[in-house]
Amino acid sequence: MYSFLCYVCYGFLVIIFVLVASLMLLSKRMNGYWKRKEVFTVNPILCFGNAKDVILQRKCLGVNVKEFYDNLKMSGQRFGGYYLLIKPVLVIADLDLVNTILIKDFDYFTDRPLHVNEEDLLSAHIVALKGEKWKKLKSLLNSAFTLRKLQMSFDIVFSCCKKVEIEVREMVQQSKAIDILDVITRLNLDIIGTSAFGVDVDSAELQKCGRGFLHAESVKTSLIQILAMLFPEMVNFLKLKVYSEEMTEYFVNFVKQVVEHRKNNNIVRKDLMQSLLQLMNGEEGLSMKEIVAHCFAFLLGGFETPSSVGAFCIYELSINQHLQDKIRKEIEHVLKTNDGEITYNTLSELKFMDRCICETLRKYPSTMVLTRICTRTYQIPNSNVTISKGTPLIVPVYGIQMDPAYYPNPNQFDPERFSEENKASRPSTAWLPFGDGPRMCIAPRLGFLQIKMALFTLLRTYKFVLHPSTEVPMRLNTKHFLMSPASKILVNAEEV
Ligand code: HEM
Repeated sequence: MYSFLCYVCYGFLVIIFVLVASLMLLSKRMNGYWKRKEVFTVNPILCFGNAKDVILQRKCLGVNVKEFYDNLKMSGQRFGGYYLLIKPVLVIADLDLVNTILIKDFDYFTDRPLHVNEEDLLSAHIVALKGEKWKKLKSLLNSAFTLRKLQMSFDIVFSCCKKVEIEVREMVQQSKAIDILDVITRLNLDIIGTSAFGVDVDSAELQKCGRGFLHAESVKTSLIQILAMLFPEMVNFLKLKVYSEEMTEYFVNFVKQVVEHRKNNNIVRKDLMQSLLQLMNGEEGLSMKEIVAHCFAFLLGGFETPSSVGAFCIYELSINQHLQDKIRKEIEHVLKTNDGEITYNTLSELKFMDRCICETLRKYPSTMVLTRICTRTYQIPNSNVTISKGTPLIVPVYGIQMDPAYYPNPNQFDPERFSEENKASRPSTAWLPFGDGPRMCIAPRLGFLQIKMALFTLLRTYKFVLHPSTEVPMRLNTKHFLMSPASKILVNAEEV
């Protein structure tokens, strides 16, 4: 019996040894990939590649890639080979090349390296769709975000803001410190729920659901996300899921109920859900599963990004009181010249506020890296380098937007960088918070409207100062793919 157990143990040890040795050999071979192509790289670490700090959650991917970008710039490189674990990824540092990849030669880079996992019902959404399927859907869904539809959304956004005004007033009366990200996030969930799905999302449930999806911050979750990007077959084989079953079930039921309610009561509204329902009934014949997945993408796109940008903007304005005063004066002026009313059109008169939002989107871009995958063999212009089909590419948005070559003294919050004159003095690709080209964000104007209305509502009535416990400078949350603060942005407010 004893000797049998010994054999089993030896057997296990041999298997583990063979597995580790194979992984090391594979990793060593992969780590030579860029060298063999004569592409600049920074020495990778066995198995971790250049992303050790990302995997250990010491840095977010965007910050890690920014450091790689700085290295490329210092070495005078237009692009460089980065290793995410053992996967070779091309990072682009040259703005002309960024422009070529996102726009001019888009046909070679139509997809993102995001994986659609058959086990994960919510993963088959427009952000992850590929090729012709994506193209068709995007052109159909674009019609849900026209200027006219946006103008119609204004009333919804306005009434959601009214609720927030009351809520903040109560906090101020009770002299409570305000968690500004929390306040703006709830506002945006309300806006997306009402304008996209036609339901009143005061409901704590949907808030819990949206937050649950985004703040699943465990090491396991972020590893599955990275694995899904790098080794999709393995994720399918192991039936790994990024989103919990409980949350998925809740969201599926939520969307089903909205759809059933509309069908049973013949309700027709001019909103995003209606556009999706038309695709369900039309020749595209979208399935219920697909509708749920796209709704999920709109939920995530519509509340997390505008919320963190709005909160970071209030944070900067609380540090830079002179800028806050300037915005407030502008709001007072616009209200005075428009009989105390704000409309979609008068909102465009808040030019200085626009600059503050653009500067926040520069310093705190929610999506710190844009990703694409090479769909056909591609020869990089003005070089001898060919990239193979299937190679992932990264555009380092955070690196570019913090590059002193385009934004001198990049840590300083300076809205004047977005004056017409200063904008014209740098390449347009130096500002990419919404991405660029056919695959750019589907709703930048809606996002902008959400941020603008949140700022208008809060700043017209209150002066904000940072609570002493709020970090300056703010560290970034290293467990989250999108840019978010490491700790709460607490502010005190007083009525002006
Ligand atoms: C401040 C607000 C927002 C920011 C900063 C933002 C940023 C982005 C970025 C960087 C991308 C990737 C672009 C690329 O790869 O070139 C993206 C894609 C996308 N965003 Fe947004 N977004 C915002 C608001 C919204 C809103 C309000 C919605 C929907 C209600 C939305 C829905 C989407 C969708 C569906 C895509 C995928 C588009 C595609 O693959 O064709 N976003 N967004």
